[in-house]
Amino acid sequence: MNQPESLSVQTESPTWDSALSDQPNFTGLTFCTVTYGCQMNKHDSEQIAGMLQQHHAQRVWNLQDADIAVFMTCCVREKADERLLGQVATIKNLPVRKNSPIQKRCIAIGGCMAQRDGDKLLEELDDVEVVFGTHNMEELPKMLSRAMHTGKPISKIIHEGKDFPEDLPEVREVPWAAWLPISVGCNNFCTYCIVPYVRGHEISRPLGDIVDRAKFYVSDGVKEITLLGQNVNSYGTDIYGHPRFDDVLDQVSATGVKRLRFVTSNPKDLTDSVISKFGTLPNLMPALHLPVQSGSNRILAAMRRKYTHESYMELVHKLRKVCPNIGLSTDIIVGFPGETEEDFEQTMKLVKEVGYQQVFTFIYSRREGTPAAKMVDNTPQSVIHERFQRLTDLVQEQAYQANQADVDSTVDVLIEGASKRNPHMLSGKSPKNQTVHALIPEGLTIDELQGHILPVHIDEAKTWYLLGHVLLDPVQIAALSRSSASNNPHL
Ligand code: 5AD
Ligand code: SF4
Repeated sequence: MNQPESLSVQTESPTWDSALSDQPNFTGLTFCTVTYGCQMNKHDSEQIAGMLQQHHAQRVWNLQDADIAVFMTCCVREKADERLLGQVATIKNLPVRKNSPIQKRCIAIGGCMAQRDGDKLLEELDDVEVVFGTHNMEELPKMLSRAMHTGKPISKIIHEGKDFPEDLPEVREVPWAAWLPISVGCNNFCTYCIVPYVRGHEISRPLGDIVDRAKFYVSDGVKEITLLGQNVNSYGTDIYGHPRFDDVLDQVSATGVKRLRFVTSNPKDLTDSVISKFGTLPNLMPALHLPVQSGSNRILAAMRRKYTHESYMELVHKLRKVCPNIGLSTDIIVGFPGETEEDFEQTMKLVKEVGYQQVFTFIYSRREGTPAAKMVDNTPQSVIHERFQRLTDLVQEQAYQANQADVDSTVDVLIEGASKRNPHMLSGKSPKNQTVHALIPEGLTIDELQGHILPVHIDEAKTWYLLGHVLLDPVQIAALSRSSASNNPHL
């Protein structure tokens, strides 16, 4: 490998790229993005795609066809690290596409793992040309251009952003659904979590900017906005006037967007006022992801989560009081250092008490540099795996039960596209965020249906999805076939 050009700087004053003041031009080149991890990464990838298209690169959906491959990485758990290394190793051996103007594919690595490892990635991974961090995404086009022109790998990581990042051009993966970050970073430092170290401290976006962006999305045909932040509930404490998250909900709801969601909520900061919005804002969808992590008060304290089993249950009761139908989901870590059978039983108890619609279960993964990495951790892996299996069985049973409650009801479904398994079926999302499948009504194509919100009668409920049929009369079918949602954003 060539000697890497490496820059790891503390400030936002990139003097080095002044030599490349010309706009990079990727005409004739193709690119593909591969995204790991959370919704913030998905949103970042939409911006990467927007920037590269603005510089005339053409998007492709297959790494094999890509002259530029951009990996947006995650480092929350070890598995994510391993997957990235595996995929980069595989792509290394793929020849460049026929007729490519370049001899060698350009591989760029961004996201949380890049932010954490910086230059080390260039040393470890031959063939990687560009490493960029979570705070300097906007520099990717220039870095790519430089690496391709000089033939030298390059890395640049900025350790902390000062302000909320500027909007970049974006290409939404789904035209009618938008991620809208309201804050970046996290101040919580839960003891197992690497995120605050790679995404920095929490920076809130000014409320006016959030509302302007939401208005833009609505005018651009977006049906569903998901507000994003590592902890949306602590929004605003760092900016002038201390706007609160409930102000954000009120004002974004008032833009008239059809569906509003938010993720993620730390239970310690979920206020009564925010809870009440589930009863008052008509477009706030009845679904909440409320990561509990553990049901044991001892483990919650060791995780530095700052709530208890009991106070979490109190939130659940309040939520169900204002919105009886709310679909709750959560994250749970099994095998945190020192977790005993009694601790785990408390988690099982909590899961039974809540009756979640969906639970994302994780085996604890030691992250170097976090406080939990130094804790005594001597539970045998076999015990952890056995607990994990018990929890998974319970979660599946609960998901099945939760979905049964919707059989024979009619739910509004935002149609996403054809089912991956059956081209005659459509797939979409219910207000509670359940996946719904239904036959594509006769006389309509999936293109005509995508992006519309349609009533679906639920005939059957499985563990992970609902099955139903679309309720449309012939007049509605005729209207739909005349105008697809992408032509008419106001349908
Ligand atoms: N090990 C296992 N799971 C983790 N998570 C975060 N850090 C770790 C870790 N070190 C999980 C948490 C979080 C979700 C996004 O990932 O449950 O809510
Ligand atoms: Fe990590 Fe805790 Fe912040 Fe979530 S709230 S990103 S788990 S430190």
